[in-house]
Amino acid sequence: MHNIAITGLGHYLPKRVLSNSELEKMVETSEEWIISRTGIKERRIADKGEKTSFMAAKAAKEAINDAGVDIQDIDLIVVGTTTPDSNFPSVACWVQKELNAKNAACFDVSAACSGFLFALTTAKQYISSGMFKNAIVVGADKFTNLIDWNDRSTCVLFGDGAGAVVLSNTRSDHGILADYIHSLGEFGEFMQVIAEERQPLDQKSKHLAVPYALMRGQELFKIAVNSMSDAVEIVARKAKVKIDDIVCVVPHQANDRIIAAVAKKSKIPKERFFINIDKYGNMSAASCAVALYEAVKSGRIKKGDYFVIVAFGAGLVVGANLIKW
Ligand code: ACO
Repeated sequence: MHNIAITGLGHYLPKRVLSNSELEKMVETSEEWIISRTGIKERRIADKGEKTSFMAAKAAKEAINDAGVDIQDIDLIVVGTTTPDSNFPSVACWVQKELNAKNAACFDVSAACSGFLFALTTAKQYISSGMFKNAIVVGADKFTNLIDWNDRSTCVLFGDGAGAVVLSNTRSDHGILADYIHSLGEFGEFMQVIAEERQPLDQKSKHLAVPYALMRGQELFKIAVNSMSDAVEIVARKAKVKIDDIVCVVPHQANDRIIAAVAKKSKIPKERFFINIDKYGNMSAASCAVALYEAVKSGRIKKGDYFVIVAFGAGLVVGANLIKW
Protein backbone atom coordinates (compact mmCIF):
# COMPACT_ATOMS: atom_id res chain seq x y z
CA MET A 1 0.00 0.00 0.00
CA HIS A 2 1.31 3.45 -0.93
CA ASN A 3 0.20 6.76 0.53
CA ILE A 4 1.50 10.30 0.77
CA ALA A 5 1.80 10.97 4.50
CA ILE A 6 2.96 13.60 6.94
CA THR A 7 6.01 12.14 8.69
CA GLY A 8 7.22 15.12 10.72
CA LEU A 9 5.86 18.34 12.24
CA GLY A 10 7.42 21.66 13.26
CA HIS A 11 6.39 25.15 14.29
CA TYR A 12 7.71 28.55 15.30
CA LEU A 13 6.02 31.28 17.31
CA PRO A 14 7.58 34.66 18.13
CA LYS A 15 8.07 35.33 21.87
CA ARG A 16 6.47 38.79 21.89
CA VAL A 17 2.84 38.57 23.06
CA LEU A 18 0.42 41.38 22.22
CA SER A 19 -2.48 41.31 24.67
CA ASN A 20 -5.99 42.68 24.26
CA SER A 21 -5.33 45.16 27.07
CA GLU A 22 -2.40 46.61 25.10
CA LEU A 23 -4.71 46.98 22.09
CA GLU A 24 -7.24 48.78 24.30
CA LYS A 25 -4.61 51.52 24.72
CA MET A 26 -4.01 51.78 20.96
CA VAL A 27 -7.49 51.83 19.41
CA GLU A 28 -11.09 52.23 20.60
CA THR A 29 -11.76 48.63 21.53
CA SER A 30 -12.27 46.48 24.62
CA GLU A 31 -11.07 43.12 25.87
CA GLU A 32 -14.75 42.14 26.15
CA TRP A 33 -15.49 43.02 22.47
CA ILE A 34 -12.43 41.19 21.14
CA ILE A 35 -13.05 38.00 23.14
CA SER A 36 -16.81 37.85 22.59
CA ARG A 37 -16.69 38.73 18.85
CA THR A 38 -13.53 36.75 17.90
CA GLY A 39 -12.34 34.44 20.73
CA ILE A 40 -8.85 36.01 20.65
CA LYS A 41 -7.09 36.70 23.97
CA GLU A 42 -3.59 37.40 22.67
CA ARG A 43 -1.42 37.06 19.59
CA ARG A 44 2.33 36.81 18.77
CA ILE A 45 4.20 39.61 17.01
CA ALA A 46 7.43 38.91 15.12
CA ASP A 47 10.23 41.42 15.65
CA LYS A 48 12.44 42.89 12.89
CA GLY A 49 14.80 39.88 12.84
CA GLU A 50 11.94 37.39 12.72
CA LYS A 51 11.21 37.62 9.01
CA THR A 52 8.83 35.15 7.37
CA SER A 53 11.79 33.11 6.08
CA PHE A 54 13.36 32.99 9.57
CA MET A 55 10.15 31.60 11.10
CA ALA A 56 9.62 29.22 8.16
CA ALA A 57 13.16 27.82 8.45
CA LYS A 58 12.80 27.28 12.23
CA ALA A 59 9.54 25.36 11.70
CA ALA A 60 11.02 23.36 8.79
CA LYS A 61 14.10 22.37 10.85
CA GLU A 62 11.90 21.02 13.64
CA ALA A 63 9.80 19.08 11.11
CA ILE A 64 12.93 17.53 9.55
CA ASN A 65 14.23 16.44 12.99
CA ASP A 66 10.78 15.09 13.88
CA ALA A 67 10.63 13.04 10.67
CA GLY A 68 14.23 11.85 11.03
CA VAL A 69 14.79 12.27 7.30
CA ASP A 70 18.17 13.27 5.83
CA ILE A 71 17.97 16.83 4.58
CA GLN A 72 19.67 15.76 1.32
CA ASP A 73 16.68 13.46 0.64
CA ILE A 74 14.34 16.47 0.49
CA ASP A 75 13.67 17.20 -3.17
CA LEU A 76 10.92 19.82 -2.84
CA ILE A 77 10.22 22.79 -0.54
CA VAL A 78 6.89 24.60 -0.92
CA VAL A 79 5.99 27.54 1.31
CA GLY A 80 2.46 28.92 1.54
CA THR A 81 2.83 32.62 2.30
CA THR A 82 1.52 36.03 1.26
CA THR A 83 4.09 37.92 3.32
CA PRO A 84 7.46 36.94 1.80
CA ASP A 85 10.55 38.84 3.03
CA SER A 86 10.61 40.50 -0.43
CA ASN A 87 9.23 39.84 -3.92
CA PHE A 88 12.17 37.52 -4.52
CA PRO A 89 13.94 35.27 -3.64
CA SER A 90 11.02 33.13 -2.53
CA VAL A 91 10.75 32.23 1.16
CA ALA A 92 11.22 28.60 0.07
CA CYS A 93 14.66 29.44 -1.38
CA TRP A 94 15.69 31.14 1.89
CA VAL A 95 14.55 28.02 3.77
CA GLN A 96 16.64 25.89 1.40
CA LYS A 97 19.71 28.04 2.15
CA GLU A 98 19.17 27.90 5.92
CA LEU A 99 18.70 24.11 5.90
CA ASN A 100 21.39 23.42 3.28
CA ALA A 101 18.81 21.36 1.37
CA LYS A 102 20.93 21.19 -1.78
CA ASN A 103 18.75 18.75 -3.72
CA ALA A 104 15.44 20.59 -3.51
CA ALA A 105 13.35 22.61 -5.96
CA CYS A 106 11.81 25.50 -4.04
CA PHE A 107 8.92 27.90 -4.58
CA ASP A 108 6.15 29.76 -2.76
CA VAL A 109 2.40 29.41 -3.16
CA SER A 110 0.16 32.46 -2.68
CA ALA A 111 -3.24 31.52 -1.23
CA ALA A 112 -3.58 33.75 1.87
CA CYS A 113 -5.03 31.86 4.86
CA SER A 114 -5.40 28.70 2.74
CA GLY A 115 -1.71 28.88 1.78
CA PHE A 116 -0.60 25.88 3.83
CA LEU A 117 -3.31 23.65 2.35
CA PHE A 118 -2.66 24.83 -1.22
CA ALA A 119 1.06 24.15 -0.63
CA LEU A 120 0.30 20.72 0.86
CA THR A 121 -1.88 19.72 -2.09
CA THR A 122 0.70 21.04 -4.57
CA ALA A 123 3.51 19.05 -2.94
CA LYS A 124 1.31 15.96 -2.76
CA GLN A 125 0.72 16.11 -6.52
CA TYR A 126 4.48 16.20 -7.23
CA ILE A 127 5.01 13.17 -4.99
CA SER A 128 1.99 11.32 -6.44
CA SER A 129 3.32 11.83 -9.96
CA GLY A 130 6.63 10.22 -8.99
CA MET A 131 8.64 13.36 -9.75
CA PHE A 132 9.68 13.86 -6.10
CA LYS A 133 9.80 11.63 -2.99
CA ASN A 134 10.11 13.91 0.06
CA ALA A 135 8.87 17.46 0.51
CA ILE A 136 8.91 20.11 3.20
CA VAL A 137 5.64 22.07 3.25
CA VAL A 138 5.44 25.27 5.27
CA GLY A 139 2.69 27.75 6.15
CA ALA A 140 4.36 30.97 7.32
CA ASP A 141 3.21 34.56 7.59
CA LYS A 142 4.30 37.79 9.20
CA PHE A 143 0.84 39.20 8.69
CA THR A 144 1.21 41.98 11.25
CA ASN A 145 3.46 43.73 8.69
CA LEU A 146 0.29 44.36 6.67
CA ILE A 147 -1.75 45.81 9.52
CA ASP A 148 -2.88 49.41 9.89
CA TRP A 149 -2.54 49.76 13.70
CA ASN A 150 -5.19 52.49 13.65
CA ASP A 151 -7.83 50.18 12.13
CA ARG A 152 -9.62 48.43 15.01
CA SER A 153 -11.54 46.21 12.61
CA THR A 154 -8.36 44.37 11.57
CA CYS A 155 -5.55 45.10 14.08
CA VAL A 156 -7.10 42.97 16.83
CA LEU A 157 -7.37 39.88 14.61
CA PHE A 158 -3.93 38.90 13.34
CA GLY A 159 -0.65 37.45 14.62
CA ASP A 160 2.60 35.96 13.24
CA GLY A 161 4.01 32.42 13.11
CA ALA A 162 4.99 29.39 11.05
CA GLY A 163 4.22 25.68 10.89
CA ALA A 164 5.80 22.95 8.75
CA VAL A 165 5.47 19.30 7.82
CA VAL A 166 7.56 16.72 6.01
CA LEU A 167 5.53 14.92 3.35
CA SER A 168 6.73 11.57 2.02
CA ASN A 169 5.74 8.60 -0.07
CA THR A 170 5.14 5.84 2.50
CA ARG A 171 4.22 2.17 2.41
CA SER A 172 1.16 2.32 4.68
CA ASP A 173 -2.55 3.00 4.63
CA HIS A 174 -2.01 6.22 6.59
CA GLY A 175 -1.77 9.58 4.86
CA ILE A 176 -3.72 12.15 2.88
CA LEU A 177 -6.85 10.39 1.64
CA ALA A 178 -8.57 13.33 -0.08
CA ASP A 179 -7.82 16.90 -1.09
CA TYR A 180 -9.87 19.85 -2.23
CA ILE A 181 -8.75 23.31 -3.35
CA HIS A 182 -11.03 25.90 -4.89
CA SER A 183 -11.06 29.64 -5.58
CA LEU A 184 -13.78 32.30 -5.80
CA GLY A 185 -11.98 35.18 -7.53
CA GLU A 186 -15.22 37.13 -7.92
CA PHE A 187 -15.03 37.99 -4.20
CA GLY A 188 -11.44 39.28 -4.31
CA GLU A 189 -12.45 42.75 -3.12
CA PHE A 190 -13.67 41.40 0.22
CA MET A 191 -10.09 41.20 1.45
CA GLN A 192 -7.16 42.79 -0.33
CA VAL A 193 -3.87 44.56 0.22
CA ILE A 194 -3.77 48.18 -0.90
CA ALA A 195 -1.14 50.89 -0.55
CA GLU A 196 -2.31 54.05 1.23
CA GLU A 197 -1.14 55.89 4.34
CA ARG A 198 -1.45 53.91 7.58
CA GLN A 199 -0.22 54.05 11.17
CA PRO A 200 2.66 51.66 12.05
CA LEU A 201 2.62 49.75 15.41
CA ASP A 202 5.14 52.19 16.82
CA GLN A 203 2.69 55.09 17.33
CA LYS A 204 5.56 57.62 17.36
CA SER A 205 6.66 56.81 13.83
CA LYS A 206 5.33 58.79 10.91
CA HIS A 207 2.43 57.43 8.90
CA LEU A 208 3.60 55.11 6.15
CA ALA A 209 2.34 54.83 2.58
CA VAL A 210 2.97 51.10 2.34
CA PRO A 211 0.68 48.17 1.54
CA TYR A 212 -1.85 47.12 4.17
CA ALA A 213 -4.80 44.73 4.42
CA LEU A 214 -8.36 45.96 4.01
CA MET A 215 -11.21 43.62 4.94
CA ARG A 216 -15.00 43.42 4.60
CA GLY A 217 -15.44 41.17 7.63
CA GLN A 218 -19.17 40.49 7.61
CA GLU A 219 -19.26 39.47 3.95
CA LEU A 220 -16.23 37.21 4.45
CA PHE A 221 -17.80 35.66 7.54
CA LYS A 222 -20.78 34.23 5.65
CA ILE A 223 -18.73 32.86 2.74
CA ALA A 224 -16.17 31.41 5.18
CA VAL A 225 -18.88 29.42 7.00
CA ASN A 226 -20.50 28.09 3.81
CA SER A 227 -17.31 27.27 1.93
CA MET A 228 -15.54 25.61 4.87
CA SER A 229 -18.52 23.42 5.76
CA ASP A 230 -18.93 22.48 2.08
CA ALA A 231 -15.20 21.64 1.92
CA VAL A 232 -15.44 19.31 4.94
CA GLU A 233 -18.31 17.46 3.28
CA ILE A 234 -16.48 17.25 -0.07
CA VAL A 235 -13.30 15.67 1.34
CA ALA A 236 -15.30 13.27 3.54
CA ARG A 237 -17.24 12.13 0.46
CA LYS A 238 -14.07 11.84 -1.66
CA ALA A 239 -12.34 9.76 1.02
CA LYS A 240 -15.51 7.73 1.69
CA VAL A 241 -15.26 8.55 5.40
CA LYS A 242 -18.48 9.16 7.38
CA ILE A 243 -18.83 12.59 9.02
CA ASP A 244 -19.33 10.78 12.36
CA ASP A 245 -15.96 9.04 11.94
CA ILE A 246 -14.04 12.35 11.73
CA VAL A 247 -12.32 12.49 15.11
CA CYS A 248 -10.98 16.03 14.80
CA VAL A 249 -11.33 19.06 12.53
CA VAL A 250 -8.38 21.45 12.36
CA PRO A 251 -9.90 24.65 10.96
CA HIS A 252 -8.38 27.97 9.93
CA GLN A 253 -8.44 30.17 13.03
CA ALA A 254 -10.04 33.42 11.79
CA ASN A 255 -12.85 33.74 14.32
CA ASP A 256 -14.21 31.43 17.03
CA ARG A 257 -17.75 32.27 15.87
CA ILE A 258 -16.91 31.14 12.31
CA ILE A 259 -15.66 27.82 13.73
CA ALA A 260 -18.87 27.44 15.78
CA ALA A 261 -21.00 28.09 12.70
CA VAL A 262 -18.98 25.62 10.57
CA ALA A 263 -19.42 22.99 13.30
CA LYS A 264 -23.18 23.55 13.34
CA LYS A 265 -23.52 23.47 9.54
CA SER A 266 -21.29 20.37 9.21
CA LYS A 267 -23.19 18.61 12.02
CA ILE A 268 -19.90 17.92 13.81
CA PRO A 269 -19.83 18.81 17.54
CA LYS A 270 -17.71 21.92 18.16
CA GLU A 271 -15.76 19.96 20.81
CA ARG A 272 -14.21 18.00 17.93
CA PHE A 273 -12.75 21.20 16.42
CA PHE A 274 -9.18 22.03 17.47
CA ILE A 275 -9.09 25.68 18.53
CA ASN A 276 -6.05 27.78 19.47
CA ILE A 277 -7.25 31.19 18.21
CA ASP A 278 -7.32 32.42 21.82
CA LYS A 279 -3.49 32.21 21.98
CA TYR A 280 -2.46 33.30 18.48
CA GLY A 281 -5.29 35.05 16.59
CA ASN A 282 -5.31 34.60 12.81
CA MET A 283 -1.78 33.75 11.59
CA SER A 284 -2.92 33.44 7.96
CA ALA A 285 -1.11 30.52 6.27
CA ALA A 286 0.52 29.54 9.57
CA SER A 287 -2.78 29.03 11.41
CA CYS A 288 -3.68 25.55 10.11
CA ALA A 289 -0.06 24.39 10.21
CA VAL A 290 0.44 25.42 13.85
CA ALA A 291 -2.99 24.07 14.86
CA LEU A 292 -2.14 20.73 13.22
CA TYR A 293 1.17 20.66 15.12
CA GLU A 294 -0.56 21.32 18.45
CA ALA A 295 -3.45 18.93 17.76
CA VAL A 296 -1.03 16.04 17.13
CA LYS A 297 1.52 16.89 19.83
CA SER A 298 -1.20 17.35 22.48
CA GLY A 299 -2.70 13.94 21.65
CA ARG A 300 -5.97 15.29 20.24
CA ILE A 301 -5.13 13.42 17.01
CA LYS A 302 -3.87 9.87 17.53
CA LYS A 303 -2.51 7.13 15.26
CA GLY A 304 -5.30 5.79 13.02
CA ASP A 305 -7.63 8.79 13.54
CA TYR A 306 -9.43 10.38 10.60
CA PHE A 307 -9.23 14.17 10.69
CA VAL A 308 -9.87 17.12 8.38
CA ILE A 309 -7.84 20.31 7.92
CA VAL A 310 -9.91 23.08 6.38
CA ALA A 311 -9.11 26.70 5.52
CA PHE A 312 -10.54 29.80 3.96
CA GLY A 313 -8.86 33.05 2.97
CA ALA A 314 -8.51 36.13 0.82
CA GLY A 315 -8.76 35.47 -2.90
CA LEU A 316 -11.12 33.99 -2.03
CA VAL A 317 -9.53 30.57 -1.58
CA VAL A 318 -10.77 27.40 0.11
CA GLY A 319 -8.85 24.21 0.87
CA ALA A 320 -9.38 20.97 2.78
CA ASN A 321 -7.68 17.62 3.30
CA LEU A 322 -8.95 14.45 4.91
CA ILE A 323 -6.07 12.59 6.53
CA LYS A 324 -5.68 9.25 8.30
CA TRP A 325 -2.98 9.80 10.94
N1 ACO B 1 -13.51 46.82 18.90
C1 ACO B 1 -14.72 47.35 19.14
N2 ACO B 1 -15.65 47.50 18.19
C2 ACO B 1 -15.36 47.10 16.96
C3 ACO B 1 -14.12 46.53 16.63
C4 ACO B 1 -13.17 46.40 17.66
N3 ACO B 1 -11.96 45.86 17.47
N4 ACO B 1 -14.11 46.21 15.31
C5 ACO B 1 -15.30 46.56 14.82
N5 ACO B 1 -16.06 47.12 15.81
C6 ACO B 1 -17.42 47.63 15.76
C7 ACO B 1 -17.83 48.06 14.36
O1 ACO B 1 -17.38 49.37 14.08
C8 ACO B 1 -19.33 47.98 14.46
O2 ACO B 1 -19.80 49.15 15.11
P1 ACO B 1 -21.19 49.83 14.63
O3 ACO B 1 -22.25 48.78 14.86
O4 ACO B 1 -21.29 51.00 15.52
O5 ACO B 1 -21.00 50.15 13.19
C9 ACO B 1 -19.56 46.80 15.39
O6 ACO B 1 -18.32 46.61 16.09
C10 ACO B 1 -19.92 45.53 14.67
O7 ACO B 1 -19.00 45.36 13.59
P2 ACO B 1 -19.07 44.12 12.64
O8 ACO B 1 -18.10 44.25 11.53
O9 ACO B 1 -20.51 43.88 12.31
O10 ACO B 1 -18.58 43.00 13.66
P3 ACO B 1 -18.64 41.47 13.44
O11 ACO B 1 -19.42 40.88 14.54
O12 ACO B 1 -18.98 41.09 12.04
O13 ACO B 1 -17.11 41.06 13.69
C11 ACO B 1 -15.12 40.47 12.42
C12 ACO B 1 -16.09 41.59 12.84
C13 ACO B 1 -14.47 39.95 13.70
C14 ACO B 1 -14.07 41.04 11.50
C15 ACO B 1 -15.92 39.34 11.73
O14 ACO B 1 -16.77 39.89 10.75
C16 ACO B 1 -15.02 38.31 11.08
O15 ACO B 1 -14.34 37.56 11.74
N6 ACO B 1 -15.04 38.22 9.72
C17 ACO B 1 -14.32 37.24 8.98
C18 ACO B 1 -12.87 37.54 8.85
C19 ACO B 1 -12.18 36.45 8.06
O16 ACO B 1 -12.73 35.38 7.86
N7 ACO B 1 -11.02 36.65 7.58
C20 ACO B 1 -10.42 35.55 6.82
C21 ACO B 1 -9.70 36.06 5.76
S1 ACO B 1 -8.18 36.59 6.35
C22 ACO B 1 -6.98 36.13 5.22
O17 ACO B 1 -7.22 35.45 4.31
C23 ACO B 1 -5.60 36.62 5.41
